[in-house]
Amino acid sequence: MAVVAALLGRACRGRASAAWRIAASHRAVYAAAPTRRYTTDDATAATATVDHVAKEPLTPLAKQLQGQIKATGPLSVAHFMRQALTHPVYGYYMKRDVFGSKGDFTTSPEVSQMFGELLGVWLVMQWQGLGKPNTVQLVELGPGRGTLMDDMLRVSKRFPAFRRAITGVHLVEVSPELRRIQETKLCEQLADGVASGGSASGIPVRWHGNLEEWSTDAQFSGSPLLVAHEFLDAMPIHVLEKTKHGWREVMVDLDTDAESEVNFRFVLAPSATALANQLTADARYANLEEGARVEISPDAWGAVNQMARIVGERGGSAMLIDYGNDFAKPNTLRGIRNHRFCDLFTSPGEIDLTADVDFSFMRTAAQEFADVHGPVTQRDFLHRMGIQARLQMLLRRAGQDRQQQRHLIGSYNRLTDVAAMGSIYKFLTLTPKGTPTPVAFEALSVEPAA
Ligand SMILES: C[S@@+](CC[C@H](N)C(=O)[O-])C[C@H]1O[C@@H](n2cnc3c(N)ncnc32)[C@H](O)[C@@H]1O
Repeated sequence: MAVVAALLGRACRGRASAAWRIAASHRAVYAAAPTRRYTTDDATAATATVDHVAKEPLTPLAKQLQGQIKATGPLSVAHFMRQALTHPVYGYYMKRDVFGSKGDFTTSPEVSQMFGELLGVWLVMQWQGLGKPNTVQLVELGPGRGTLMDDMLRVSKRFPAFRRAITGVHLVEVSPELRRIQETKLCEQLADGVASGGSASGIPVRWHGNLEEWSTDAQFSGSPLLVAHEFLDAMPIHVLEKTKHGWREVMVDLDTDAESEVNFRFVLAPSATALANQLTADARYANLEEGARVEISPDAWGAVNQMARIVGERGGSAMLIDYGNDFAKPNTLRGIRNHRFCDLFTSPGEIDLTADVDFSFMRTAAQEFADVHGPVTQRDFLHRMGIQARLQMLLRRAGQDRQQQRHLIGSYNRLTDVAAMGSIYKFLTLTPKGTPTPVAFEALSVEPAA
């Protein structure tokens, strides 16, 4: 990725010249955005319009980005997205709990414990399928509130041999605030003799800024079971458009138009850059028509490539769960606030930015080092793992509590309905080459290509 970073720098350099032209409005992109990260009010969100009365005040991050653009010219979408999400001081994830009804969006683990429990059972079966390695490290990328890990660890107690094999829980998390929330949740749950940072008798929980930090530390031996749920969609993307002169990168410039409420807009780079040429060199982009756009995330590619390398070298497996398709889909980058879609240039640093994952691209990132299985839809995966039986069990436990029954059935529907999270979300797994196909991935339908 160092090469890409270097190229990125080159692509951003130089003040905007007269040749920069305004790209198709981001509002067109916004309006076309499909419902992806689950919002409680998708129908309203998809048709929402923005009244442009006055420029919104600049957020502290918007002021910084404005200064950068004035000094060096338009920024790549990837740079804008990275700053908006993970700027050390002003980034969206860095200082708040963004989940649940009081936050901006709700993820599957937050919808119901059934999600994490079934994934926990899958990890146990995967461990068995891999010959029950003596030592296992549970590694989660982007653990949010820690709910998924909490549910998976609770399930592991039912499988004592598996539980004994877990020598460490590792959380790859960039946000100090979310780390604090994760610590509170997991160290409470692991109170049976386990403390944060480690205990001779229990499972130590450790935090890492990136996967490299964990994978290069020799003390963390054993087969890793990696999980990344809604992590890849937060990785910065580059946006490229095919013009009659070839591929051009879509960049972010200042929007001084009085009609527009936001302070930024898309422009097209006036000439080809090494980055644009390199990212679009793949044969699958060759036949796209003029005007076509593609979203490419070198960061997501790099993360999956690294996970595959780890699994290839050390055994274990990686489970990647996210929304997206098994092909490249254009114009999926969107802003989310208060469970609704919003203009992606609204209040940088204060709204979520996310893009669909291109699972076909992720496969290419992994296949040199690991076998790749899927993607399968969330609906298929959860049904294969027995969500209906688990639902019945929880309903019996709820007894006559009608509210609890309604909650359980509603959560089941939300997780599995094709109109809700059931088909949007996909599961992709990486295993060491030549090992058996994981449970729930045999003979399941793969989404047809577009
Ligand atoms: C959409 S949330 C998903 C949270 C959780 N997996 C869930 O599904 O509820 C994205 C998570 O990834 C973390 N994250 C985003 N970018 C990251 C990065 N570059 N490195 C490490 N963590 C990151 C966020 O702080 C957050 O915990």
